[in-house]
Amino acid sequence: MTTRVIPAQSATEVAAAAREAADLLRQGQCAALPTETVYGLACDALNARAATGVFAVKERPAFDPLIVHVAGTPWIERLTAAQGTVLALAQRLAEEFWPGPLTMVLPAAEEGDEVAVPDLVRSGLPTVALRSSAHPVMRAVIESLGGPVAAPSANRFGRISPVAAQHVLEELDGRIPLVVDGGPCRHGLESTIVQVEDGRLVLLRPGPVTREDLERFAPVERATGKTPVAAPGMLESHYAPRTPLKILGEQEGLPADAGESGLLAFGSGGGFAVVEELPSDPVAAAPLFFSALRRLDASDVRRIYARPIPESGLGMALMDRLRRAAHD
Ligand code: TXA
Ligand code: MG
Repeated sequence: MTTRVIPAQSATEVAAAAREAADLLRQGQCAALPTETVYGLACDALNARAATGVFAVKERPAFDPLIVHVAGTPWIERLTAAQGTVLALAQRLAEEFWPGPLTMVLPAAEEGDEVAVPDLVRSGLPTVALRSSAHPVMRAVIESLGGPVAAPSANRFGRISPVAAQHVLEELDGRIPLVVDGGPCRHGLESTIVQVEDGRLVLLRPGPVTREDLERFAPVERATGKTPVAAPGMLESHYAPRTPLKILGEQEGLPADAGESGLLAFGSGGGFAVVEELPSDPVAAAPLFFSALRRLDASDVRRIYARPIPESGLGMALMDRLRRAAHD
């Protein structure tokens, strides 16, 4: 299959690209679309067969459910069974953070309800993950389709998330019909995922909406278990470069193999064969993070080292992605 890449920068291009993508989705096919977090591999969320295609293209195991992208708050009541205080909390969060990089996990509407996300999209879980992206391309596709869009990150399973159209091609060229190129992603880290419960929030994946942001609405607990069922995205080895990555201790000196290794540093770093310096401000570093990791992985270093960043604000999401990327 030939993968077409079409630009979507101007308003005219966005409208044309969205029409083309929505046409593919209506036919049960998929298309890679930009969002403000990372690029997503989109399909019609109500079409189980189309979702099967997305799992196949990504080589994603069937137990890892897809995020469902919706136009806005009214879809919470349409696609979930949330009621009472849980529904009210979800709606307040949506009012504050949607459209934006927040995904909420809620009890799913049952199949047989007026609209429901198929079992397969949810990997059989009794919950559904909803997000409303602020990106004009994703919004236009949802509007043109007239319904929700399922979209996991547009990378092969377990690999680094794509934050530019070129990264999507590196992952999926020849496997999908279309990539809509909306330029680099503004946040550059995947959305925050939170399970909304009665009077508390369980943080399943830290992201651009920070723990501190969420604590204004309800007490936040960080999910700890490694159970794939609670949050498959918490699988330890995820976002992994092919090159082994090790996180250095804060005060740790140069490792013996620095001369043939790469370094990812927040702030300045030296003494390594290849160095990727990111800003020490996590908000400025996040949009550059996955690209830097990709470049290090593509260089011929035998090992990648990373210096840690303090875990407040977006630093928590950055350290989460670094830890998952670390493996031997
Ligand atoms: O920023 C993002 O969230 C991007 C853009 C494209 O929207 N999407 C993304 O999707 O990162 P993905 O599939 O790479 O990661 C979504 C994570 C997965 O780890 C999945 O296990 C988890 O969300 N997830 C989906 N539905 C869930 C559910 N019902 N309960 C718990 N976790 C869920
Ligand atoms: Mg992903």
